Amino acid sequence: MKPLHKIALLGATGKAGSCLLKHLLTRQIPCRVLVRNPESSLPAHPLLEIIYGNALDEEAVNRLLEGCSAVVSALGTRKGEPPVQLAATRHIIRGMVTHGITRFVGVTGTTLNVPGDRKPFRSRCIDMLLRGIFGPVLRDKQEAFELLRASRLNWTLVRIPFLKTGEESAPVKCSSDHSPGPSIHANDLANFILQQLNDPHFYGSAPFIAN
Ligand SMILES: NC(=O)c1ccc[n+]([C@@H]2O[C@H](COP(=O)([O-])OP(=O)(O)OC[C@H]3O[C@@H](n4cnc5c(N)ncnc54)[C@H](OP(=O)(O)O)[C@@H]3O)[C@@H](O)[C@H]2O)c1
Repeated sequence: MKPLHKIALLGATGKAGSCLLKHLLTRQIPCRVLVRNPESSLPAHPLLEIIYGNALDEEAVNRLLEGCSAVVSALGTRKGEPPVQLAATRHIIRGMVTHGITRFVGVTGTTLNVPGDRKPFRSRCIDMLLRGIFGPVLRDKQEAFELLRASRLNWTLVRIPFLKTGEESAPVKCSSDHSPGPSIHANDLANFILQQLNDPHFYGSAPFIAN
């Protein structure tokens, strides 16, 4: 595996991404982030490089990825906006191939279905309810997953339940086939993702994590 000399991060201004960025920089890992709003608040740090652009713009994603050793996506479709995951994932995969990057770690939700899942009845009912409300966004995530699955990348999609922000932290449970809890602290998600950057254990899989 290449040494982690620079991480390309999408979604750095969101709940999951901003916490992850803080953890990366605290560990002195250089980061390049894609930010679409110049007024977004980001920490001032010598190891942070900002690319202004949209994840739906292939050229912007390409600029983000150039010279990076791994890609992390904490992208999420904002309320009222069209789904972003499928198009962004397509650009990310192409860009990674172009730049010879092999490691991708993404964040998604527990509604994503993966062959081999054994979600309990209650979770399946909640998924169905959520599909009724957020159908297009969840379908877009499922399609983005299929694209990743068909790629030759070393991808991992981390499936999370409700994300709690703040400074708290608690032990993390992990499962390959169902969500082991109702929520996860952003700090714990960030630590889990950081761990994945140098660990092949979850290559080609979508583990669930929760506190
Ligand atoms: N929060 C939860 O409880 C929860 C639970 C389960 C799963 N998840 C999943 O985890 C992921 C991250 O969630 P989150 O809550 O951290 O998301 P979030 O707070 O809504 O943040 C979304 C991030 O994506 C960026 N983004 C959206 N569209 C973009 C575009 N076209 N170009 C560039 N950047 C774009 C946003 O940038 P702007 O700041 O510019 O909008 C922001 O940085 C999502 O896939 C979400 O569905 C979240």
